[in-house]
Amino acid sequence: MVIASEPQLLTAAIAAKPALLSVSFGDDFSWVRRAHDAGIAAATQVGNLRAERAVEAGVDVLIARGAEAGGHGEPTVGTLPLLAAILDHLSVPVLAAGGVSSGRALAAVLAAGAAGAWLGTAFCACTETLLSDRACRALLSAQDTDTVSAPASSTSPRAIHGRRRSQNGCCATSSPTAGTATNRN
Ligand SMILES: Cc1cc2nc3c(=O)[nH]c(=O)nc-3n(C[C@H](O)[C@H](O)[C@H](O)COP(=O)(O)O)c2cc1C
Repeated sequence: MVIASEPQLLTAAIAAKPALLSVSFGDDFSWVRRAHDAGIAAATQVGNLRAERAVEAGVDVLIARGAEAGGHGEPTVGTLPLLAAILDHLSVPVLAAGGVSSGRALAAVLAAGAAGAWLGTAFCACTETLLSDRACRALLSAQDTDTVSAPASSTSPRAIHGRRRSQNGCCATSSPTAGTATNRN
C-alpha cells in the first residue's frame, strides 16, 4: 500500500492542512488518527458495505464510489444502489461518486440522500487540467458506450475506447463522463 511504502506522501498532505483528507483503497486506517490529530477531517472511498470498517476506524465522511466512476477502484456496484445501501446501514455523511457530472446527476444523488457528490472525470476537462489537448478532445467527444472497464491491476481501470481496449480484453459500457482520459497518446 502506498501509505506504507511512501509515508512522505501522507506527511506532505497533512502538512498542507487541508479541510478534508481522502485516502482510499487500503485496509490500513492508521492515517485517520494522524489526520484527526492535525484537525483534518477524514474521508475514504468505498465500493461496497465493507465501508463499516472505515467508520469504525473513525472516518468522518464516506464516498460511495460506484462502478461508473473513472480512475482506480473495484467496479462492482452501481453508484445509486451503492449509495442507497450505505445510507441504509451507516450514519456518517456520504458523498456519491461515479458518473456525476451534471446538475441532473447531482440532483439525483442528493434526492437519494447523499450529502453531496465527489467528482473526478469532469475535472479532467477543466481549464486547469494536466491532460493533453488530444485526451481532452477524446473525453469531450466520447459517446455513451465509449468507455471500457479494465482489471483493477491495470494502470487505467476505466478508459475511453482505444488501444487499451484490446490490451485489456474486458469491456463495460458507461456514461462517457464516467471514463478517465488517461488514454491520452
Ligand atoms: C484520472 C483520474 C484519476 C484518479 N485518481 C485517483 C487517485 O489517485 N486516488 C483516488 O482515491 N481516486 C482517484 N480517482 C477517482 C476519483 O476520486 C473519483 O472516485 C471518481 O473519479 C468519481 O467518478 P467520476 O470519474 O465518474 O466523476 C481518479 C479519477 C480519475 C478520473
